[in-house]
Amino acid sequence: MINLSKNTVVGSSHGKLILVGEHSVVYGKPAIALPLPLVEVKASVQSVLNDTLIIDSMYYVGPLPDLPEKMHGIAACIKETLKYLEKPAEGLIIKLESTIPLGRGLGSSAAVAIAVVRSLYAYYGRKLSKGELLELAHLAETYAHGNPSGIDTAAASSDQPIWFQKGHQIESVQIGRPFYLVVADTGRVGDTHAAVASIKNKSTINPIDTQHSIDQLGEISEQARVALAHGNVKLLGNLLNAAQDKLTTLGVSDQGLNQLVNVARDAGAIGAKLTGGGRGGCIVALAHNMNEAKSIAIALEKANARKTWYFTLTE
Ligand code: PMV
Repeated sequence: MINLSKNTVVGSSHGKLILVGEHSVVYGKPAIALPLPLVEVKASVQSVLNDTLIIDSMYYVGPLPDLPEKMHGIAACIKETLKYLEKPAEGLIIKLESTIPLGRGLGSSAAVAIAVVRSLYAYYGRKLSKGELLELAHLAETYAHGNPSGIDTAAASSDQPIWFQKGHQIESVQIGRPFYLVVADTGRVGDTHAAVASIKNKSTINPIDTQHSIDQLGEISEQARVALAHGNVKLLGNLLNAAQDKLTTLGVSDQGLNQLVNVARDAGAIGAKLTGGGRGGCIVALAHNMNEAKSIAIALEKANARKTWYFTLTE
């Protein structure tokens, strides 16, 4: 890591958590996603006497043109942002620091892109509109996911829970009372690209059943919005469990996720499901209160969850 001087400009972003609606959101159904401020990315920009732009991250330190393939999305995002700003891709160091585990469905790639765009705009003293931010960050997501719905960038750049539907205005979600959530990481990188592709493939082989599961997931999101607004914990828990069933039917859960889901339920969770693309990554569980959230997190760690987080969802 390169030590930056005090004369740096910082942009940041938190992670995101999809509560319900992953995958079906790709097919135009609504989804609910939350900001996850427990994990975040910080991008620091500083000038340097160099004819290129240097990236300093945990995974790579060196010039922008030589970024490894898995960081090509962020390279495209940086180049496009600088083009918008009419600045050359040289004479800068961008240092990336993140507490968001990579590829676990917690919005790491979206958050890196958001933090970078924010930091470059701030560095050049330019005002950044929400539209520009989403457009530029979405570019990086396109590399990461192929054809992303845009939910990750929308949630990672929002300070409030969002109701997200492709092609529609993002709406806010009412939270009728505090909800206690636990997130646990399987420790395995998920493959959202492959999971999305596998559902697409399923929809050509078995269009009626696949569409049925997608429709049901859309219906679950509608009901979850009502449960959140009415503070109906029991209903929300049932809906999380129902969503897990549909995602399993669609083939995007796996043994490790199912195991953590079962551990959470056995430890008292009212509902639990995978979150994000699946096939690795994380689960989310709903608890009655903070103490129960803590004990569910402990049970999950005993069952080999790599890491857990718990928090209260409020308006
Ligand atoms: O980035 P992930 O793994 O949280 O997945 C995003 C949600 C999906 O619905 C699976 C894909 C998308 O583009 O919406």
